Amino acid sequence: APGSPAVRPPLGWNSWNTFGCNINEAKIRGAADAMVNSGMRAAGYQYVVVDDCWQATTRDAAGNLRSDPVRFPSGMKALGDYIHSKGLKFGIYQAPREETCAQYFNALGGATGALNHEQQDATTFASWGVDFLKYDWCSPWGTLNDQIAGFTKMRDALRATGRPIVYSINSNSAHSNTGPSYNWSNVADMWRTTEDITDRWSTGCRADCFMGVTEILDVQAPLAAWAGPQHWNDPDMLEVGVRGTFTPTQNRAHFSMWAMMAAPLIAGNDITTMPADVRDVLTNPDVLAVNQDSAGRQARRVRDFGETEVWAKTLADGSGAVALLNRSGSTATVSTTAAEIGMPAAGSYTLADVWTRASRNTAAAISATVPPNGVVMYRVRTGSSTPTTSFGLRGVGSGRCLDVLGGAPTDGA
Ligand code: GLA
Repeated sequence: APGSPAVRPPLGWNSWNTFGCNINEAKIRGAADAMVNSGMRAAGYQYVVVDDCWQATTRDAAGNLRSDPVRFPSGMKALGDYIHSKGLKFGIYQAPREETCAQYFNALGGATGALNHEQQDATTFASWGVDFLKYDWCSPWGTLNDQIAGFTKMRDALRATGRPIVYSINSNSAHSNTGPSYNWSNVADMWRTTEDITDRWSTGCRADCFMGVTEILDVQAPLAAWAGPQHWNDPDMLEVGVRGTFTPTQNRAHFSMWAMMAAPLIAGNDITTMPADVRDVLTNPDVLAVNQDSAGRQARRVRDFGETEVWAKTLADGSGAVALLNRSGSTATVSTTAAEIGMPAAGSYTLADVWTRASRNTAAAISATVPPNGVVMYRVRTGSSTPTTSFGLRGVGSGRCLDVLGGAPTDGA
C-alpha cells in the first residue's frame, strides 16, 4: 500500500512451514542466529516472523495481548530486542476475527484475535518493536466487504502507530485456491494469492486443500499486473529445504519461480540445521537480484506448452530474466526467443545461467534441456560477451572448480 516500507519484495524467515505451533523463544532466537551465521542476512534477508501460536489463550485484565507464558516466558518485547540486536527485523502473527487460525481449528484453544481490539493490538505491536504483521483471516466468516473493512481497519491502526510495519494479509482461504477476487494494493503491502502451500511439487488441489508449487504458479500467473513496489502478490512461503522433501532440482525450480514472480521470499525451512546445498539456493545472489529488482515486475507466463512453460520479465536496467520451466517428470527441451521475452531487437544476446554461472551468446533463440521438475533460468543482456564455462551448479552440493591450468572442470573440492 502507499507509504509501505516494502519497496522490494520482503525477504525473511517464518516459523510456520517447519514448526507449526511447536514454537518457543529459544527456537526463534536460534533462527535469528542462523539467519546471520548462514549468510542469509548478508544476502539480504531481514524479517524473522513468529507465526501463529505465540499468544497466551487469553488477554490480560486490560485487554492487552500477551505471549504464551510457557513457550515465550521472556515476552515478545524481549524477543524483538534480541532479533533487532542481530541486525534483523521482527515479524509477528495476528488474525482479524475472534480467533487466530490455530485457535479456530482448535490446535491452540483460546480466542485472542484482534476483533474490536485493532488499535490496541497495533499499539502493542509497535511497543514491542514489531516491523512486520501477518494478519490472517482464516475462518470462513464474512463477505468480501467484511474483509475489506477488517483489513483496512488494521492498516489504519498500524499507520496510526507511526511505526513502519510491513502489512502482510491472508484474505480468505475459502476462495484463494482460485486466486483473490480483489486487488489489495491500497490496503496491504502483500497478500496471499492461494491456499496454504505444502512441500509437494504438485497436489492436484482444486478447492480447500494444500497446494503444490505448480498449482500456485497457475493461480499466480494471471495476477502479474497487480504486483509492484509496495504491493506484492504473495504465493505463500518457501518450501525450499523443508523436511528435505524436495530434490535439489525442485528446490532450485521453486526458488527460481518465486524470484521471477517478485514474490516475498520467506524461507520456511529449519535454517539452524540446513545443509549447504539448501543454503546455497536461498542465498544465490543472481536469483535474489532478479527478485529484488527495483522495477518490481512479476514475470509473465509468455508461453504455456502444457508441461513446459516460459516465464519472463524485464528488469530495471533493461536486461531480461527468463525461466524455462519443466513441470513434467521427464527431461524436456524448452525454447523461446529474445523477442518473445520482450528483449529489444539486437544482433546478439548474452545468456547467463544463474545456477551454473555459465554464459553463452545467441542470435535470438533461447533454448535449454531442462530436467524433470526443473528450471533453467537466464539473465539476458543485449550484445555478446566472452562465454564462460560452468563454475559449478550452486545449490546442488557438488562443488566443482575450474582447473587453473586450463583443463576441464573437476568435481569436488
Ligand atoms: C493459515 C495461514 C498459514 C499459517 C496458519 C497459522 O493457515 O495460511 O500460513 O499462518 O494459518 O495457523
